[in-house]
This record gives sequence, C-alpha cells and structure tokens, in this order.
Amino acid sequence: MSKIEEILEKATRLRQQGGGTMAAPTEVKRPVSPATPAPPLAGAELGPYKTEQRLDLVSPYLVSVTQPQSPVAEEYKKLKSVIIKLTTGERFLNTIMVTSTLKGEGKSITSLNIALALAQEYDHTVLLVDADLRRPSTHTYLGIPNEQGLSDCLMNGVDVGSVLVKTGIGRLSILPAGRPVQNPVELIASSRMKEFIQELKHRYPDRYVIIDTPPVLHFAEAYSIASEVDGVIFVVREGQVPIAHLKEAVGMLKGSNILGVVYNDVEVNRYSSYHYYSYKNYSDYAGQGSA
Ligand SMILES: Nc1ncnc2c1ncn2[C@@H]1O[C@H](COP(=O)(O)OP(=O)(O)OP(=O)(O)O)[C@@H](O)[C@H]1O
Ligand SMILES: [Mg+2]
Repeated sequence: MSKIEEILEKATRLRQQGGGTMAAPTEVKRPVSPATPAPPLAGAELGPYKTEQRLDLVSPYLVSVTQPQSPVAEEYKKLKSVIIKLTTGERFLNTIMVTSTLKGEGKSITSLNIALALAQEYDHTVLLVDADLRRPSTHTYLGIPNEQGLSDCLMNGVDVGSVLVKTGIGRLSILPAGRPVQNPVELIASSRMKEFIQELKHRYPDRYVIIDTPPVLHFAEAYSIASEVDGVIFVVREGQVPIAHLKEAVGMLKGSNILGVVYNDVEVNRYSSYHYYSYKNYSDYAGQGSA
C-alpha cells in the first residue's frame, strides 16, 4: 500500500470515529460560508496584456485575496509554501496539475487559491489554465469572460499570449477553457495538448503553470495530462468519496509525481492542532516521485 493510500485510509477511519489526527498531507479547511459573501477587491491594478480585466471578486471562495488574514487563507499560504519547497530544487518543477477522484471535490477552488497565493508572493508569476473543458469554472469564479481560451489555442492555433487574461492580482494570468467542444477527451489527450504543455513550460520557464482538470475517475483527461506535467496535487473532499474509488483514482496516477493531497472542506477546528504534523508528511512525499 502506498503512503497516500495509507493516509487516505487513516482519514476515513478517523472520520468514522469523528475526530483524531488529520490524516492527509495537507488540510484546507472550509472557506467562508456561501452565505457570507466576501468583499470585492477594490480596483485591481491592470497590466499590459491584450485582454485586461478589472476583477470584481464576489465569489466567497477566493479567500486568498478577499480575506488574506483568515484562517483558511493561512492554510492556502502554508500549502503554497510547501509547493514552493517541493518544486524549487535543482530543477524548477513549474507545471502542476490539480485533480480529484470525482466531480465537485474542490479542484477549481483549490487551483485558484494556490494560484492566487503563489501570485501574491513577490517573485512568482503564475499562469492558471482551465483544462476542464467539460465543466469549466475558473472564469465563473473570477467573473471574467470565457470567449477564447485553451480550446481555441488547441483547435484553431490561437496564440496563447493573445488570450491570456491578466488579473492584476500579483502576477496572475488566466487561460480560460475557451469555447465548448464536442470532444473534450480527444482534444485534451491529443498530441497537440502535450505539445501545448511543453510550449507553456518552455515559453514561461520562470512561471508556475497550474492546470485545473476534470476528475480522474470516469474521464481520461486528467490521466493524460498527468504524464506531461511535473507534479500533481490531488484534492480529496471530506466525506465525499468511498475509499475504493480513491484507491482506484490514485492507482490511475501511478507513475506521476503526486506532490501531495489537499484534504478539502474539513470542518473548522476539527484537526487544528495537527497542521504541522500533516505538513511534515506532505514533505515526505517529495523524494518519492510516484504514488
Ligand atoms: N472547501 C470548501 N468549502 C466549502 N464549499 C466548498 C469547498 N470546496 C468546494 N466547495 C463547494 O463545492 C463546489 C465545487 O467546488 P469546485 O468548483 O472547486 O469543485 P471541482 O472539483 O472543480 O468541481 P468540478 O468537478 O465540477 O469541476 C463549490 O462551488 C462549493 O460550493
Ligand atoms: Mg472544477
């Protein structure tokens, strides 16, 4: 049994017991309640990209920007620090994919907050790519248009530089999913997508490229992208997925560099005294290279 499987099993056991140590490499607690909308970000500064967007951040989930001092934003900052540590060694591991077992586990919210936390660090330029062509949501969370994006780059050869949306939040740019396509799996699993990831990697060698993807079970896109990126962050939403499905999903990513697991939507305070223990485990994955 791999370390990740052990941790997930332990998490399930503890959940059934109703408490105990946090059993995932990292924990991201429940952000603010949707009933408590976050204040919009005032007048974000805009840069020289072709598409410039003045953001009105009303989503309650973008806590890294809207509530930077909140406990949840602190968790994302810790997660960011761990990611930086794991990806900046001899070689900069700049392409990171975020996925989960099933839909709705928090991939997009996690991708966004990781990207926002990284981009607010003074020396990190970040590109967030919405590669979930089935249920794209990055543009919705940020309130930006999705007229052109990844699908247009892949299908019509649109230059990526011309469709990036610069957010004005630190140095964060977004590549939205783009126009809906009939055949997302063919497009994402195509050699064109593989070349595209390599192109991003080499065109933006000093920039983190965070890729939001569909879930692993049922769809082949994440499996395909996993072999092209430097690292994978796996989101597990508490109480959502049977352990057998988790194992199956993690098994499908064998051979990929799973950097760690984000245990999402955990009840606040449940595991609060165990954060540092969990981060130690997270770092332990660094040298392993696979699940
Ligand atoms: N930590 C959390 N706290 C509270 N609600 C959450 C949390 N994470 C996810 N959710 C809820 O789940 C919804 C889906 O989250 P998100 O869009 O990040 O999931 P996803 O895994 O990207 O979904 P999909 O598979 O559809 O792309 C959010 O809109 C929110 O309502
Ligand atoms: Mg999503």
